[in-house]
Amino acid sequence: MSKETVEYHWERHHKGHVDSLNAIVQGTEFAEMKLENMVLTSYNEGNPLPFFVHASQVWNHDFFWENMKPGGGGNPSGMLSEMIERDFGSLDELAKQIQNAALTQFGSGWVWLAYKAHRLGVGNDINPRPSGKDKRLVVVKTPNAVSPLVWDYYPLLAIDVWEHAYHMDYENRRGDYVSVFLDKLISWDVVSCRLENAMVRASKREQMENRKLLWEQLKEQTPIGKKVVDSRPTPKARQKMKRRR
Ligand SMILES: [Fe+2]
Repeated sequence: MSKETVEYHWERHHKGHVDSLNAIVQGTEFAEMKLENMVLTSYNEGNPLPFFVHASQVWNHDFFWENMKPGGGGNPSGMLSEMIERDFGSLDELAKQIQNAALTQFGSGWVWLAYKAHRLGVGNDINPRPSGKDKRLVVVKTPNAVSPLVWDYYPLLAIDVWEHAYHMDYENRRGDYVSVFLDKLISWDVVSCRLENAMVRASKREQMENRKLLWEQLKEQTPIGKKVVDSRPTPKARQKMKRRR
């Protein structure tokens, strides 16, 4: 990735979204929110408003820059490597799926490696309980400013496949840009760290949801306000019984 591309992308495109977001956030309900919550709250169920576009593009670009480094590439290690083997078969197969997602993303968008813990599938179908297809790595593509955050996935790697990310260096050869990104720029250390954090967060959340579910079930079995019938004899009745004996 050339210096010119980085300068244009960072200083003009990314900064443009930061400036626009700062200009419209003042005095709104979003002003005190963390960026991630701004994205989730403003998604508007797939009908995003300009606020979402700026917030999500800032989040996506921050995430993208952080998963690059000079002299990157190479092979992942540890748990990430094991999960890539388990869920894709090999690192080459993962690279193929990333390439395929990049080349089939019509128009502008993003390609992601994400940890799908549970809950939502693409298209907002609700799957609130873990299933055999959950707790695994997935490759997904998103249009425009959307990220897998809005599907309740944990993003691990972002590749910007908007034309401004590669056209100066590779013209319309998006696949060449993605190959160079994977071979020379990707920071597997950052992806590993994100995976560990995602698994911890997902596990804590699952525990909380299980506790909540258990509490709901207990409440259904013993509704609050329902009198518990005490079938034991009263003290008077016990005295009468004694006298009879
Ligand atoms: Fe971009």
